Order: sequence, then C-alpha cells, then structure tokens
Amino acid sequence: MNPLDVPTTIAQRRAHKQFKSDEIPADLLHRLVELTVSAPSSWNLQDWRIVVVQDETQRQALSEAAWGQQQIVQAPVTFVFAAHPYAWKTDLDDIFAIANQSGAWDKSRIDYLKNAIPQFQEKLGDKNREYAIKDATIAATHLMLAAESLGLATCPMNGWLEEKVKEVIGAEDSELAIALLVPVGYPADSPQNPGRLPLSHNVFRDRVNNPYE
Ligand SMILES: Cc1cc2nc3c(=O)[nH]c(=O)nc-3n(C[C@H](O)[C@H](O)[C@H](O)COP(=O)(O)O)c2cc1C
Repeated sequence: MNPLDVPTTIAQRRAHKQFKSDEIPADLLHRLVELTVSAPSSWNLQDWRIVVVQDETQRQALSEAAWGQQQIVQAPVTFVFAAHPYAWKTDLDDIFAIANQSGAWDKSRIDYLKNAIPQFQEKLGDKNREYAIKDATIAATHLMLAAESLGLATCPMNGWLEEKVKEVIGAEDSELAIALLVPVGYPADSPQNPGRLPLSHNVFRDRVNNPYE
C-alpha cells in the first residue's frame, strides 16, 4: 500500500482495543523501528530504550503488568518505550562520532556540546527522568503515526505498574523509566473518534487567560 499522508494519518489514528493475531511482516516491523528512532530528542541524545516484545509469554506478562489489558496479548508486537535518564553520561562520544561522520556537526560544535550537554543535564537534577521520558514519548508518537500510515493500528498505554513492566523487560535493577507501552498490529475493531474539546477550552493566544478562539 501507499503510505497515508501525514494529515490524513493524524486525523485517522485511533486508540485500538482489539487486534487480530496476524503477524507483522519482518520488513514492515523493521521499517517501523527505523521510523520510530528517526524521532527528535533533546541534544539528539536518543535516550530511549525501546524493547520490541513479540514473545507470547512476555506479552502475557506485560499484559498482567498492565492490569490485564488484552491489547497486549492480542497484538503480535508491543513496543515498550523505556527512557534512560543518564544516557548523556555514557553515549555522547558515539553521538558526536555519527554527527561528525555525516558532516552535520563540525569539531567546534562538538567541542561546545561536550561541555554544554553535561552542564545542562547536571542542572536538571531529578528532572533528568522527566526529560528522558519526553524523548521516549515523542518516539512513541512517531511509531503510532508511522504504523497508522502503513496500514497498522496502535494503542498508547499508560495503564501499567512501572516496577512490574521493568521486571518483565529485565530492567528491574536499572535506572530506566518506563514512558509508554504501544501494542501494534492489525485492527479487529473500528473505534470512533471520542472527539476533542473546543479550541476555546485549552488553546490560547500569548497567555493562558486568552483563549485562541
Ligand atoms: C499517554 C496515554 C495513555 C493511555 N493509556 C491507555 C491505556 O492504558 N489503555 C487504553 O486502552 N487506552 C489508553 N490510552 C488511549 C486513550 O484512551 C485514547 O487515546 C483517547 O481516548 C483518545 O482516543 P483516540 O486515541 O482514539 O483519539 C492512552 C492514551 C495516551 C495518550
């Protein structure tokens, strides 16, 4: 199929609760993974840690960590979006090498970033976690839109216990934070758009007391 264009994809995407058990072809799944990690991230840190869960026992365990929600059991794949709050302590050399090799960042920019990134991140303190979760959540949004555009369905999921999800993916002893779970597969339902509040409710001009419309 031809991929859907972005506006149509955004308008058409729904959170699906039921999936067929049909497998996602390996090349299509790989394309989804590549599109997911094309997401932007703060300083290009790419501090998400994405676990692609296909194993049936693992999906069952994830579902149990998510209050028994069946999307995870039904869909052939669930992406677990974890976030590493301190990736900036370990990954900068690799990030700089790739950006330098592609010609995107020259030596003077890299020299600046070598100081600027740790300085900025150190000041964040506890918010390192929050910042890493932002990056992982943006990547998850890329996945949802890429999947929709390529004929698949998704469901963003926040309804799970973090410690249990960490256990299932083998991250119980790590600093990883869990951002979002996203089952992906072929839809077995046709959810309706539950609608959005009027723009006057939550979109503003210049200041939050001045409704956009
Ligand atoms: C961060 C987030 C967490 C969500 N968690 C769940 C969840 O655990 N289970 C579920 O069935 N739906 C979950 N949803 C789906 C929402 O209920 C759904 O996106 C919302 O009702 C709007 O519907 P739409 O996505 O079809 O536009 C979640 C959505 C978001 C964005």
